[in-house]
Amino acid sequence: MSQRRLLVTSALPYVNADIHLGYMVEAIQTDIWVRFQRLRGALCVYVCADDTHGTATMIRARREGRTEEELIAEVHVAHEADLRDFDISLDNFGSTHSAECRSLCGEIWSRIREVGLVKSDRVRQLYDAEEGIFLADRFVRGTCPKCGAQDQPGDNCSKCGCTYSPAELVDPRSTLSGTVPEPRDADHLFIELEQFHEFLENWTQGSGALQDETANYLRGHFLGPPDQPEPLRDWDVSRPAPYFGFEIPDAPGNYWYVWFDAPIGYMASTQQWCDKHGENFDDWWRSDDCEIHHFIGKDITYFHTLFWPGMLSAAGFTLPAKVHVHGFLTIDGEKMSKSKGTYVKARAYLNHLNPAYLRYYYASKLSNRIDDFDLSLNEFVTKVNTDLVGKFVNLASRSAKFVAEIGLSAVYPEDGGLFAAAAATGDEIAEAYESCDTGRAMRLIMALADRANPFVEENKPWELRKDSERLSELQDVCTIALNLFRQLAIYLAPVLPRVAEQTGELLNSPITHWDQAKVPLTGTPVAKFRHMLKRVEEKDVRTMIEESREDTGDQGRGEGDDCRGETGDADPWNDSGDALAAEPLAPECNFDEFLKVDLRVARVVAAEHVSGARKLLKLRLSLGGGQYRQVFAGIKAAYEPDELVGRLVVCVANLTPRQMKFGLSEGMVVASGPGGSEVFVLSPDEGAVPGQRVH
Ligand code: MSP
Ligand code: ZN
Repeated sequence: MSQRRLLVTSALPYVNADIHLGYMVEAIQTDIWVRFQRLRGALCVYVCADDTHGTATMIRARREGRTEEELIAEVHVAHEADLRDFDISLDNFGSTHSAECRSLCGEIWSRIREVGLVKSDRVRQLYDAEEGIFLADRFVRGTCPKCGAQDQPGDNCSKCGCTYSPAELVDPRSTLSGTVPEPRDADHLFIELEQFHEFLENWTQGSGALQDETANYLRGHFLGPPDQPEPLRDWDVSRPAPYFGFEIPDAPGNYWYVWFDAPIGYMASTQQWCDKHGENFDDWWRSDDCEIHHFIGKDITYFHTLFWPGMLSAAGFTLPAKVHVHGFLTIDGEKMSKSKGTYVKARAYLNHLNPAYLRYYYASKLSNRIDDFDLSLNEFVTKVNTDLVGKFVNLASRSAKFVAEIGLSAVYPEDGGLFAAAAATGDEIAEAYESCDTGRAMRLIMALADRANPFVEENKPWELRKDSERLSELQDVCTIALNLFRQLAIYLAPVLPRVAEQTGELLNSPITHWDQAKVPLTGTPVAKFRHMLKRVEEKDVRTMIEESREDTGDQGRGEGDDCRGETGDADPWNDSGDALAAEPLAPECNFDEFLKVDLRVARVVAAEHVSGARKLLKLRLSLGGGQYRQVFAGIKAAYEPDELVGRLVVCVANLTPRQMKFGLSEGMVVASGPGGSEVFVLSPDEGAVPGQRVH
C-alpha cells in the first residue's frame, strides 16, 4: 500500500490576542491526530500561521506607537513558543502577512475574477473621522433602533435580541474615539457565493467531508432544503483604505478583507514548508494523492465549509477531505472570564503545569461531536492523578527499578493473555483516534491499564526482590509489567509524546510505530528509572487561576472574552453553595464517635450488573491479604462495571452486614452526590494501598 499523504491545519490564531486554553483545544486536538497519523506511518505535514490582517491589528499598532510589522513579529515569536511548549508538532508556523500569501491571494483572486464571480456594490458604513477609519461592527455602540436599549453593540441588541447594521443604531458612538461616527458610502467588491449553490449542496451533504451535525447546520442556516434552496448572500471581501492588509491589485485603494486571505494563509504556510524542504506545492494542494484536513471551532464553520471550498473549486485546488469541527471550551461550567481568572493564557498554564496534563485531559473529553465541553478544574486534578499517574506511570515506576541491572527476560513469559488482549485492542483504539473520538480512545486505554495493574499487585515484585532465589521470577513479572506499560505508552504516544520518548529511553527501544504494540520487547537492558510525570498539585492550578485573574491587560478580541468586570471573591474555585444547602451539616460528633466508623482503602477487584436491580452494582472489594467484601452499591447509573475494576475506593469496613434481596452486603463504598447518575465515588491519592485505615 502506498504511503498516505496528509496536509493538516489548525485555524490561524488572531495576532491581536495571546493564545489561551480555548485555542489550545484546537491545537491539541489537531496535534494528537497528526502524531497518531505519523505513528501509523503516514506522511503528514501540519501547518498553521498567524492571522494578521484587519482593523484590530491596525488600531493596536497605532495605540502602541509602532508599525503593524513590529507588532506581528513580536506576537509571532510568542505564539510559536506557546505552541512549541505544548508540544504541538507543527512543520511550519507562517503568517498571512507574507510574500507567499500575497502572491497566492493574487493568483486565486485573478482566477475568481476570470470566472465571473466578483461584482461591485455600494456599501454604507460608519466612519470615525477622528481616527480616520471605517468602523467594524464591534467598534460601534449605540441605542437599539427597535427597543431603545442604550449602549448596545454594533450588530445586535443584548436586550431584545434584534439584529441590525451599525448604521441603523440611534446615537451611535465610536468605541475608539468616543466621537459620533458619520455614515459614508464606498464601493466594495463581493463574491457571488450563490453561483456555487449546487456545488456546495453536493459537497456539504454528500462528500463525507463533514460531520452530520455540520452538514445539517449548513442546510438549516444557509443552503435551505434541496427542493427549496435559499440563495446564498453575496460576500463582501474588500475594505476601503485605511485597512491593514494586502491592497487588491486591480482595485487600488481597496484591500482584501481579513477573512479572504486567512484560509489562503494555510497555503502560504505550506508553500514556505515546501520551499524549505525542496517539495512541490502542487503535490499538496493540487493532487488527488494528498488529503487535506482542516481542524476548526464551530464559530468559523461558514468560512471553511462554504466560502473556502467555493474558492478552492473555482481556482482549481483540491477540496478538503475533511473539515473537523469541535465545540467550545468552558471552564468550570462558564465562558472563560477575565474577572474569574478562567481566561487562562497558554503561557500562564505553562508557567505552572506540565503540558501533558492538559493534553491528556482534553483528549479524554474530546469526541468527534461538536458539543461544547467543560474543563472542570477539580476533575482535571483528579483525572490526571488517577489515570496518568495512578494507573499508567505507576506500572513502570513499580517495576522498572527491580530490573535495572538485569534487563528484560530473553523470552516473553506466559502472562495469562494480557499482552495479546491489549495488542488485539489496538485496532479499536486506532479507529477511535482516526475519527477524532479521543475520549473513546482514552477510555479503551485506561481499561487496559485497569487490567495490567492487578497483575502487578498480585505478583508483588517488591516482595519477590527480597528473595534471591526468585530472581528469574522477578525478572519475568517485571518483563510483563513493563511490556504492558509500553503498549499503553505506544497507544498514548499521540497524546503524551514526552512520556513515549522517556519510555523509549527506559527500555532502550524508541517508540516509532503503532504496530510496535503487537510484539513484546524482550532481552533489552532497562535504564535507571527517571520520574515521568508528577502528580498535579492543586495549589499550582490555584496559582495559575490567581495569576490569570490579576492579568487583565486587555488584548482585543479573544473568544469568550468576558469583560463584565464583576468583582470576584477570594475563592478562585467559585464552588456553588447548592450542595451544602441541599444537605446541611449533621450534628457535631466527637473523635471517639468518629473512630467507630472504620474506613478502609479497598480495591475493586470485580464489578457486575445485578439482574433485576435498577440501581445496584455488585462489587467485590479487596482489603489486601486475601480479605474480601461483597458490597451492593447504588452507583449503576453513574458507572460502568468495567471502569471500576482495578480502582481504589474507600469502604466502610465495619458496617453490620445486611441481607438484601440480591445477596449479603458487607459494607459500603464511600461516595458523594445526590444519587442517580450524579454519584461520585471517592478515590484515595496515589500511594495508598488496600487495607489502610482512613482517618
Ligand atoms: N483567525 C480566525 C481563524 C482563521 S482560519 C483561516 C479565528 N481566530 S481565533 O483566534 O479567534 O480562533 C482560532 C480558533 O480557535 C478557531 O477555530 C476557534 O473556534 C478556536 N477557539 C477560540 N476560542 C475557543 C474556545 N473557547 N474553545 C474552543 N475553541 C476555541 O477565528
Ligand atoms: Zn433592542
